[in-house]
Amino acid sequence: MKHVAIAGATGAVGTAFIEILEKRDFPLASLRLLASERSVGKQILFKGEPLTVEMLTPHSFEGMDIVFFAAGGEHSLHFAPQAVEAGAVVIDNSSAFRLQDDVPLVVPEVNPEAAAAHHGIIANPNCSTIQMVVALAPLHRAAQLTRVIVSTYQAVSGSGQAAIEELCDQLHAFTQDKPLQSDFYPVPIALNVLPHIDVFMENGYTKEEMKMVDETRKILGVPDLPISATCVRVPVMRAHSEAIQIETRDKLSVEEAKRLLSTAPGIIVKDSREPGGYPTPMEVAQTQETYVGRIREDIASKNGLAFWVVADQLYKGAALNAIQIAELL
Ligand SMILES: NC(=O)c1ccc[n+]([C@@H]2O[C@H](COP(=O)([O-])OP(=O)(O)OC[C@H]3O[C@@H](n4cnc5c(N)ncnc54)[C@H](OP(=O)(O)O)[C@@H]3O)[C@@H](O)[C@H]2O)c1
Repeated sequence: MKHVAIAGATGAVGTAFIEILEKRDFPLASLRLLASERSVGKQILFKGEPLTVEMLTPHSFEGMDIVFFAAGGEHSLHFAPQAVEAGAVVIDNSSAFRLQDDVPLVVPEVNPEAAAAHHGIIANPNCSTIQMVVALAPLHRAAQLTRVIVSTYQAVSGSGQAAIEELCDQLHAFTQDKPLQSDFYPVPIALNVLPHIDVFMENGYTKEEMKMVDETRKILGVPDLPISATCVRVPVMRAHSEAIQIETRDKLSVEEAKRLLSTAPGIIVKDSREPGGYPTPMEVAQTQETYVGRIREDIASKNGLAFWVVADQLYKGAALNAIQIAELL
């Protein structure tokens, strides 16, 4: 039985942590909910019992076995070493530690063995990376990836609670024939798409796109794998979608790819060539699996496949993956 704390328990990911801990019967001795001063004293139900939110401080970690961090990178950088010092294992949802050599970056279906080498901190990958590598790994094992091209369609809840509220407010304003006010995103997200997630880098890609490149290479253990990503925010509440094209060293038929994907852990293949015979974010929201559909030969490439991947980024892309890592430990 483990004493567990969630730092950032009141946010979009923190809420998903509480839901997944309830759903998965995690062996909990106690649960401590931590957030900012704004939330101190707030009561949150866990398995029918009210838990009181406490302020995240350097003293929050006494007696904790596992601390899940979901309060943003700056707070992870500041508090995670203190949690480790207090004897806890940290599983961090931010990008703060992901590319450090001595910090394992783990997706339990793909590289569970990496978790054992931790020195107190294990990083949870970026949400878009997680669902992509879950789908790539069985194909890579069978035929060796030589190139990956991905375009994402990312839900607003990927930006946290404030973005969810902005989309709701803008949709409401639209139905009232009022101007759409944008405080969180640079332009309206309602009825729009934004090819811009995180900051722009010198090479013209965004940081979110480069996270998908660097983290995928680290998780799959192929440091020079050619990958190119275009990350797009869409007016979807929850669950990210990805259109992926791969090339492999060995030819994979559509049938073989379907067989590999449907027998891989954590994947549901939904792929019938008829209206609705593919996964969509609305139906995938609040589920724990990664869904794959639209599997077809890429007609623009010799050894190429194209497919569509959808997963709940608050669950598999964040809280669920982190809890699966804790289960591994
Ligand atoms: N959203 C996703 O799909 C997703 C997926 C993967 C990873 N992540 C990562 O997970 C982290 C959380 O994201 P989110 O989407 O859940 O954000 P969010 O909805 O904005 O929640 C932020 C959380 O951090 C807490 N917090 C903010 N300032 C704090 C402070 N000074 N001290 C203590 N707690 C503080 C907030 O507490 P208050 O409520 O008290 O302000 C809240 O609980 C980020 O690092 C993000 O990159 C997010």
